[in-house]
Amino acid sequence: FTSDRYKVKRGPYARISNDHVAFFNELLGRNRVIADAEECEGYNIDYAKIVRGQSTLVLKPKTTEEVSTILKFCNENRLAVCPQSGNTGLVGGSVPVFDEIVISMKFMNKIIETNELAETNLGVLSSDEFFALGVLTCEAGCVLEDLDNHLGTVGLMMPIDLGAKGSCLIGGCVSTNAGGLRLLRYGNLHGNVLGLEAVKANGEVIDCLNTLKKNNTGYHLKHLFIGSEGTLGIVTKVAIQCPPLPKAVNVALLGLNSFEKVLKAFRLAKRELAEILSSFEMMDRRSIDISFTTFGMKSPLTSKTDGHDFYVLLETSGSNVNHDEEKLGSFVEKALADDIIEDGTLTSDPTKVKHIWALRERISEGVLREGYVFKYDISIPILSYYKVIEMIEERLRDPRVIRISGYGHLGDGNIHVQVSIPSYEPDIASQLEPFIFEYVSKLRGSVSAEHGIGFVKTKYLHMSRTSSEIKLMHEVKKMMDPNGILNPYKVLYPLEISA
Ligand code: FAD
Ligand code: MLT
Ligand code: ZN
Repeated sequence: FTSDRYKVKRGPYARISNDHVAFFNELLGRNRVIADAEECEGYNIDYAKIVRGQSTLVLKPKTTEEVSTILKFCNENRLAVCPQSGNTGLVGGSVPVFDEIVISMKFMNKIIETNELAETNLGVLSSDEFFALGVLTCEAGCVLEDLDNHLGTVGLMMPIDLGAKGSCLIGGCVSTNAGGLRLLRYGNLHGNVLGLEAVKANGEVIDCLNTLKKNNTGYHLKHLFIGSEGTLGIVTKVAIQCPPLPKAVNVALLGLNSFEKVLKAFRLAKRELAEILSSFEMMDRRSIDISFTTFGMKSPLTSKTDGHDFYVLLETSGSNVNHDEEKLGSFVEKALADDIIEDGTLTSDPTKVKHIWALRERISEGVLREGYVFKYDISIPILSYYKVIEMIEERLRDPRVIRISGYGHLGDGNIHVQVSIPSYEPDIASQLEPFIFEYVSKLRGSVSAEHGIGFVKTKYLHMSRTSSEIKLMHEVKKMMDPNGILNPYKVLYPLEISA
């Protein structure tokens, strides 16, 4: 169990009794209360299999009122809870550590699709009106990809996209302030979430379901729930600003032979592609190799059979096909002429676009098949971006290491570092940590750029946040959840990791 690997003690919470289970059965009905150990198994293990909890109770509310009643009851009875959405989080925040009750948000999956205007003056919005407003309101348990497909029917899209889109729920994304593949273009959820509804630990429903773009009236309380990883409340509804679906999408896969050239390509892309650039993702050879070897995927680049040291996936999104193709074509010509890239392929064919994106998106899934993976998700100044991989290679000359790979959202200064070994080895862990976080801290970077702190990074929070910030975080937590029932052991809990 996780509690054995990490030195963490169970908090002073009540144990689940038959009376508690009877209360939940009465509230939700037996089919939305899972009290069978085997059925609870999947809710206890996270995607990357780094945390395993011991919960024996999973609740599946369908309404805000049910979430409110559950939390009020848990707070009064000192029962700890763990909110869970798609369980794709990568820092162990979405699973219990001990026997916390899992509150699964999967059944809160209705698209509401109205807004204040619709309710007061206009009746139900036509798709044209909906398009013009571009505001989606939905329950927190909607699957990201379902929302995107739904919006596609009225010419809109979600402002966020990530490899886990088929499983992650919008409430999970909001609670982690997930970044993803197009943050470079559309910004993060602190900007795109216009409003939300959340339930506090004591069951109080906080309605900040604003749908206005501009509304500077008092404190913007929604931000407390965005990125706080279920430690301050449970998000039940969200209103999101959605951009129009671009008429033209082009994707390029580029092969390059040094990181210096990746940076040159980025500078050139920013200059030449400017407003149409929607993604700039970097993969080193060992990262993209995961997609080639694990899934047998083929490279669309043909010039070299032995591959390139670095790859860039670049996407443009705009409103004029000819204009975008011309711009991207001239970017690639310039990059070839200036010897920045060794090879490149361009496409707007949806099947080929999908294939190139899959090469990038499936790295995360593929690497887990190799064994245990130490994953680091860091932001550092772009000039030091790849040095971290070189330093780890230098430091970890160990035959047990299968692969050290680096890839990520270069356009946002965020690199994902992966060290794969056959199974967890404490001595390798201690060679990597705190070394990597100290390096990040020296550069004033972030020890968690987009995945959050969750359970496994709590020990390193102070390396990216000042003591005054952490003190205020504790005060906010104390005020919002005085009994500490919401996602304990996460974000603010100081952990000692045992060797
Ligand atoms: P979960 O994993 O279930 O929960 C995440 C956290 O939020 C937990 O702490 C949980 O307690 C809390 N939580 C969940 N729902 C609620 C709620 N309704 N109210 C309050 N708290 C809640 N992340 C990125 O940022 N960028 C990426 O590009 C990216 N790509 C990924 C690709 C893959 C293949 C995978 C597996 C993960 C990826 N992630 C990425 C990480 C992860 O998908 C995101 O963090 C995602 O937002 C989590 O959503 P989820 O629904 O799975 O939430
Ligand atoms: C990604 O960009 O692929 C994700 O953040 C997932 C990961 O780091 O594994
Ligand atoms: Zn990422």
